[in-house]
Amino acid sequence: MTVPVLTIDGPSGAGKGTVSRLVAKKLGWHYLDSGSIYRSLAIALLQQLVDLADEAEIIKIAQNIVLEFECNDDLIVKLHGENITSQLGLESTGKVASIVAALPAVRSVLLQKQKDFLKQPGLVADGRDMGTVVFPDAQNKVFLTASAAERARRRYKQLIEKGIDANLSNIIKEIEARDRRDMERETAPLVMASDALYIDSSDMSIDAVIEEVLGLIH
Ligand code: C5P
Repeated sequence: MTVPVLTIDGPSGAGKGTVSRLVAKKLGWHYLDSGSIYRSLAIALLQQLVDLADEAEIIKIAQNIVLEFECNDDLIVKLHGENITSQLGLESTGKVASIVAALPAVRSVLLQKQKDFLKQPGLVADGRDMGTVVFPDAQNKVFLTASAAERARRRYKQLIEKGIDANLSNIIKEIEARDRRDMERETAPLVMASDALYIDSSDMSIDAVIEEVLGLIH
């Protein structure tokens, strides 16, 4: 029997993570945070002080990476048994993730790990290329975005709430640089699938976005 899939793609900070987790919970479906796979690889590379120009070494580490995911209210990720959850959201992790995610061989090594999440009763998959490359046959696809200024403002608020010092104009620059890397890479760039529903969440509440996404499924 076909497993139903809902893909939610879009740039970083558009609210994909929050929306995908809550929609998966409401539907009782599994949840794939594909960014956390690239981020986990980034953590492995940072831990092992790998030179980011050494493609062969990066691919070797990607091939041997062992990850465990537990998703209750929050996502917990273990890398070779070590809980790395607290390092996943770091800016340095995201930056290295987006650099190595541009390597076609890394993407092909990590492809099967993402497909493995496909299980009954259904899957909500969040990322950049879920609807275009990983699950092109998904029945329901969303492209969730927001302006760079609004995404930066949300990120700034999150950091300040966590007591982390932040600078809004630096965050806008980082977000724009990450968007460029993700959109301009040759393999699996961030593009909207032709059959996706476009949602701009700049002026929407999380609840309003969730309602629109659930409307697509029902
Ligand atoms: O979504 P998140 O910010 O956690 O992703 C971190 C980085 O991993 C992104 O900037 C992107 O370069 C990469 N990524 C990707 N394809 C995905 C998910 C994430 O290239 N499906």
